[in-house]
Amino acid sequence: MHPEIKTHLYLPESISTQEYLRQSSLPPWSIVRASIQTGGRGRNGRRWDSPPGGLYYSLRYPTEVSSQPPALQIMGGALCWLELLQELPETPKDFSLKWPNDLLCRGKKIGGVLAEQHADVIDVGFGINVNNFFDELANYRLPPISLSEAGGRRYNLDDLLARWLEKFIPALCRDAGSFFSRRRIQDKLITLGREVVVNGKRGKAVGIGEQGELIMEMDGKVELIFAGDVEEVQQY
Ligand code: BTN
Repeated sequence: MHPEIKTHLYLPESISTQEYLRQSSLPPWSIVRASIQTGGRGRNGRRWDSPPGGLYYSLRYPTEVSSQPPALQIMGGALCWLELLQELPETPKDFSLKWPNDLLCRGKKIGGVLAEQHADVIDVGFGINVNNFFDELANYRLPPISLSEAGGRRYNLDDLLARWLEKFIPALCRDAGSFFSRRRIQDKLITLGREVVVNGKRGKAVGIGEQGELIMEMDGKVELIFAGDVEEVQQY
């Protein structure tokens, strides 16, 4: 495990690693991981299906560690996942980000991020579909895909998490803006330059702002969206 990590809890089952961390007094640089979650939480009150084979973990880190706005730090964590997945041999390379934090592979959802700030720490939880498969009858907001489905083989969850920590922690602690730069995030955004619907409003996604907000053009005006979901993306 990365030397910065003070506590690493590995639970065979948890209701939610995010909830576990929230209710705990674990110090910053703690990580809680579970093989399955029975009440996995997604963004905006949604649930996160967490069957065996997926990677589910929450990391607590001190807010003071980075001078970047929290939203960009979290997007940086998602970016680390994209980079890592992209580097895996014999795996498709078409990974992208859907604002704010959906990780996509071939336009389908391969992972998601849930972040919560409490006083002087940020708890950031990642759910990555790795060796799991999906109930074809379930109704998902975005069609899901797993790494195994995309790459045609199984992946080692310990190895993936260790590699992510190797990328994220140094970027978070030492980066003065280059890793979490808006340009790097924009480069990966599937939504950029497209017609989208966010929070029920239609417009064109034109960039990421200084705080990680989505910059949209709506009826000839610029609007900044700080929270919400991209509900619809025009496919070309
Ligand atoms: C989303 O895309 O809606 C965010 C999903 C976040 C899921 C992860 S799995 C580990 C951690 N524990 C939870 O209950 N949720 C996050």
